[in-house]
Amino acid sequence: MKKVFIKKTLVFSLLLLFAMAGQAQSAETSAKQSKTPHKTKGNPITPTYKRADAPIDTRISDLLSRMTLEEKILQLSQYITGLNDNVNNIGKQEDEYPNNVGSYIYFSDNAKLRNELQRRAVNETRLGIPILFGFDVIHGFRTIYPIPLAQGCSWNTELISQSCAMSAREARMSGTDWTFSPMIDVARDGRWGRVAEGYGEDPYTNAVMGAAAVHGYQGRSLNNTSNVAACLKHFVGYGMSEGGRDYTATNVSRQSLWDTYLPPYEMCIKAGAATVMSAFNDINGVPATANHYTLTEVLKKRWNFDGFVVSDWNAVEQLIPQGVAANRKEAASKAFSAGLDMDMKDGCYQEHMSDLVKEGKITLQQIDASVARILRLKFQLGLFENPYTPSYKESERILRTEDKRIAARMAEESIVLLKNENNLLPLNKNQKIAVIGPMAKDKENMLGSWKGHGRAGDVESIYEGLEKEFGSQLLYAAGCDFDGEDTSGFASACSTASQADVVLLCLGEKREWSGENASRSTIALPHIQEQLTTELQKCGKPIVLVLSNGRPLELCRLEPLCKAIVELWQPGIAGGTPLAGILSGRINPSGKLCITFPLTSGQIPIYYNARQSARPDQGQYQDISTLPLYEFTHGLSYTTYSYGNLSASTMRITKNDKLTVEIPVTNTGDMDGYETVHWFISDPYCSISRPIKELKKFEKRFLKKGETALFSFEIEPKRDFSYINDNGSRFIESGDYYVIVKDKRIKIEVVD
Ligand code: GLC
Repeated sequence: MKKVFIKKTLVFSLLLLFAMAGQAQSAETSAKQSKTPHKTKGNPITPTYKRADAPIDTRISDLLSRMTLEEKILQLSQYITGLNDNVNNIGKQEDEYPNNVGSYIYFSDNAKLRNELQRRAVNETRLGIPILFGFDVIHGFRTIYPIPLAQGCSWNTELISQSCAMSAREARMSGTDWTFSPMIDVARDGRWGRVAEGYGEDPYTNAVMGAAAVHGYQGRSLNNTSNVAACLKHFVGYGMSEGGRDYTATNVSRQSLWDTYLPPYEMCIKAGAATVMSAFNDINGVPATANHYTLTEVLKKRWNFDGFVVSDWNAVEQLIPQGVAANRKEAASKAFSAGLDMDMKDGCYQEHMSDLVKEGKITLQQIDASVARILRLKFQLGLFENPYTPSYKESERILRTEDKRIAARMAEESIVLLKNENNLLPLNKNQKIAVIGPMAKDKENMLGSWKGHGRAGDVESIYEGLEKEFGSQLLYAAGCDFDGEDTSGFASACSTASQADVVLLCLGEKREWSGENASRSTIALPHIQEQLTTELQKCGKPIVLVLSNGRPLELCRLEPLCKAIVELWQPGIAGGTPLAGILSGRINPSGKLCITFPLTSGQIPIYYNARQSARPDQGQYQDISTLPLYEFTHGLSYTTYSYGNLSASTMRITKNDKLTVEIPVTNTGDMDGYETVHWFISDPYCSISRPIKELKKFEKRFLKKGETALFSFEIEPKRDFSYINDNGSRFIESGDYYVIVKDKRIKIEVVD
């Protein structure tokens, strides 16, 4: 018995040994396989996915073939790392995450932590897949430029590209490969704080300026240490947030989706944007995060988008409060099935995707397709060849002179002269100027809501800029705070004003009053600021109102009290000198509004490209005017421009022809300046009702005093006259169309 027992034991032990050896062998084999290359024509030592000379798609398929399901699912996950100071999104730190996560939101302002995390990913994981580091470089990384809403008022797409290119360089050299920008959400409700982050109320403006930003960020190649991948956001219709309240549901008709909210994304996808971020809002009952129509049917199928879609922060898990997911697992299933590739922050994909595959709710093919999109960007960025950010001298990396010069130029060109009664401006060198108000010496709030790694210490305040320009002409009093009820500063402000010839009143918003999660029920400034204005007006000195804000403002009570109004916006670090240059006349203002300024909050939403009323002469408000205070493209200059008559190469055209419309513009004043000509079209009779007019081109040019320039617009009816229906199909009908510039219009007949 004993003998037999031993024998059995021996046999069992041998079997166990073989089994263990076999397991070890298979693990070793698979490990070896992952390292032992497929026999390929190229270098027999290096696996194909690591060969820079191999086509990217070949590298992707080779790498996918080597990855386990768990490794693939981690590529679909993004977490956060570094010092997270985003007050709207507080999260955990990186030490809880595996070395081979797909991506991090990178909150550090230099590459040290990034390179350490990257070293672990590349050297301490089975396949060494590098991590993708993203960050919100919205209007600058450390050099902070004017907010995008201000940049939209410059109408200078080349300058927008330049500022984005400068921001990209700072970011990439500091460890960030990917920016969550440009935001191209058409916004027509100033109560919504995020109006600050886009290019205003018009689809064409957001499209063209968004494409300029994409070109700036991505340059000619992503595999360049000065460029970053762009991310179009927030896809789609987020700007329609009801009541201006952030994160709320949006009711966007299909036709409006195609006519107003999708065009900026289509143009920017064509411009080569690498990624898209889905939006927080619910679109007609289907949250954008799990909206198969927008994410897959439109974006990936109709537009052939080959990049990837990342969710917004915790947005997958937020499908639960949005009422379409019972739990995180269902949220992951719905979002991923809709076409959402990467899960930002909440870990729903990492936690549940493996079970969803085992249960057959998600297929391996779907997983591979999304992982392929993410790997594609990593290959395009060159992260497999250059996973680490080189070290640079700080003076080489951030706040370079040329960056600050571009920031100042953008501030110059985005400042809008809204009012200038009796040509009070420019000021002269003999005037005593009383500089008053909470914005006068402020720095922090000039940075705007998405200040990136911007610092107040980098900012040139309004007062600092004025000192360089006007020197000893200045007197100063704070007057009041941004808000609150403390009027104790009024007396000294009035006393200072009485000693001056003119009052420069600097009012505005704190930076956290706009941006994300910054909705306000009214777009008026706090009462204390209006009270100060009223008190100063009693001093009998002319008031020049300077505004620094992140949204259109309600100025109906301030406007009558001020002889001149200058919209500075939130200019970033270099606004002081450009503003002073405009106030002194050294610079001729050229900014024009890319968003309407309502007379009051009660008019919201109010925008230029609205459809015609059934009774254009009725239906007005009984208590106030129905007209805005300042309309889309409003902006004054120190010179005058005379617009000649419109002329067309033909007045009759078939749908497939082209025609050119021209208009001469003369600088009839005594100061050189930049003028932007906006070309609109109108189609007053169509199968569907259309906006009263629609912007289709804009062009900004420098005109010396006395100079006449010929502005032209080559029109293609299918592109410029057509309308789009609720299925996204474009149509051009025969009939009369109008081309409009300022108050001039010319009729063009389109025939079959
Ligand atoms: C925020 C914003 C989004 C930003 C993201 C990462 O919630 O909605 O615009 O890019 O989270 O910070």
